Amino acid sequence: MTSRQQPKTLWLGRWGFILAATGSAVGLGNIWKFPYMTGEYGGGAFVLVYLACILAVGVPIMMVEIAFGRRGRGSPIDAIRRVAQESGRGRGWSLLGWMAMLCGFLILSFYVVVAGWAFSYLWKTVSGGLAGSSVDDMAAIFAANNANPWVLGFWSTLVTVATMFIVGTGVQKGIERSVSWMMPGMVVMLAIMIGYAVFSGGFGQGVAFLFSFDLGSLSSEGLLAALGHAFFTLSLASGAILTYGAYLPDHSSIARTTFTVAIADTLVALMAGLAIFPVIFANGMDPAAGPGLLFMSLPLAFQAMPMGMLFAAIFFLMLSMAALTSAISMIEATVAWLNESRGISRVTASWSAGLVLWTLSTLAMLSFNVGAEWTLAGMHVFDWLDYLTSRFMMPLGGLGMALMAGFVIRNAIFRSELGLSPGSYSAWLFMVRYVSPLGIVLIFIDSLGLVSLDLGRQWPWLLALLALFTLGGEWLTPRFGRQRIVQGRS
Ligand code: PFF
Repeated sequence: MTSRQQPKTLWLGRWGFILAATGSAVGLGNIWKFPYMTGEYGGGAFVLVYLACILAVGVPIMMVEIAFGRRGRGSPIDAIRRVAQESGRGRGWSLLGWMAMLCGFLILSFYVVVAGWAFSYLWKTVSGGLAGSSVDDMAAIFAANNANPWVLGFWSTLVTVATMFIVGTGVQKGIERSVSWMMPGMVVMLAIMIGYAVFSGGFGQGVAFLFSFDLGSLSSEGLLAALGHAFFTLSLASGAILTYGAYLPDHSSIARTTFTVAIADTLVALMAGLAIFPVIFANGMDPAAGPGLLFMSLPLAFQAMPMGMLFAAIFFLMLSMAALTSAISMIEATVAWLNESRGISRVTASWSAGLVLWTLSTLAMLSFNVGAEWTLAGMHVFDWLDYLTSRFMMPLGGLGMALMAGFVIRNAIFRSELGLSPGSYSAWLFMVRYVSPLGIVLIFIDSLGLVSLDLGRQWPWLLALLALFTLGGEWLTPRFGRQRIVQGRS
C-alpha cells in the first residue's frame, strides 16, 4: 500500500489545526448569517434542521476533507488527484478539487464586502459615528455606507489586503500565528457579549425564539438554506478545511479534531443568537430584518442600553476578527496550489490571487451602488455569488466528495487516515455512502419542487427510503467491477 505523502509544511503547535480550522469555521456565517437566516426562516425549526445537517452531513464530510488533505498533502486539486491515483483512479477526480478551490475563491469575493461592513462599523462605533442615531438614522447610515463605492470599496479592499498579507506570510508565521491570538480573543469577547445579553431583559424571548421547534413551519426554501448553511458554516467543499488538513501532523486524530471544530462552531452560532436576539427583543425590534439585522437593528438596540456603544465596539471587533480568520482560509487553497503546483513563491502567489479576487469583489461591492441595476433574474452579482456557492457548489461538491470517499477510494486509505474503531468506521462509511448523499439529494429535489418534504410527518417514509438505499447499495457495491478489485485489495 502506498502511504501518505511527505508534508512540506505542518502546523507548529498542538492546537494549530484546531485553532485555524475553528477560525475558518467561525465567521460571518455564525454571527451575521445564522441569526438573520434564523430570523427569516422562522426560528427553532430552522435551527433544528440546521443542527441535523451539521451532524448527518457536515461532520462526516469534514472528516472526508481532512483525510483527503492529510493523505494527499497538498491543495485540493493535488491532494484529491494523489489520493485518487493511489486508488488506481484517474486524474479526472481532481475536478472536485478544482470546484472546491473555485468555490472558496467565489465565496471570498463577496465575503470581503460583508467583512468590510464589519470593519467599517467597528470604526463607526469607536469614532462615535453612530451615537444618538434614531431608527431612520441607522437605516440611512447603512444605506449611505453602501451607496458610496469609494467608502465601501475602501473597507473591502482593506480586508482583502489584510487577508493576503497574512496568507502571504506563510502557514506558520502568518495563519497559525494570527489565529493563535485572534481565536482566544474572540472567545473572551463573545462571553462578555452573552453576559450583557443575559441582563438585557429579552433573554427569555431570545431563547424561546431559537429553541421552540415547529417543523411544520419550515418551508422548502428554509430546508435548502439550512443545508447550504451547514456547509458554509463548517467551511466545507470550498478547499479551506481540506488544505488546512494537508498540514495536520500524522498523529492527530481526525475524528476528534472534527468534533471539536464542529462543536465549537455550533456553540458560537447558538451563542451569537443568544447574544443578538435578546437585545433585539428587549428593544421591540423585528428578528426577521434580513442581512441588515446586525448593522441596523443591533447598533440601534445597543445604543439604547447602558454602555451600549462600548459593547457595540466589542461586538464589531469580534465580528471583524471572525471574518478575517475565515477569509484567510478561503484563499489558502489557491495560494497553496499556485505555490506547489506552479512553483510561484507564496508572497507572489498571494498578491496575484489577491488582485484577481479584488477585481471580482469590486464587482460584488458595486452591487450596492453603481451596479444596482446590473441584475440577472432579479439578483445582483453579490447575491449570485452567495446563491451559487452556498445553494449549489457547496452541497454538490460535498455530495461528490462523500460519494468518492464512500465508493471510489480504496477503503484502506480512509480506514488508516481516520484511525477509527471498526464500529465507528462502519458508522462513518454508512453516513458518507447513504445518509449524507440522501439528505443532500432529497433537499435538492424538494427545492426543485418535485416532492414536498414535511419532516414532521414523513420521517417513517424517509427511514424506509434510507434502508432501501443502504440495502441496495451494499448489495451492488461489491458487484461493481472496479470497486470489487479495489475492495479486494483493501
Ligand atoms: N465558515 C465561514 C463562516 O461561517 O463565516 C465561511 C467560510 C469559510 C466558508 C471558509 C467557506 C470557507 F472555505
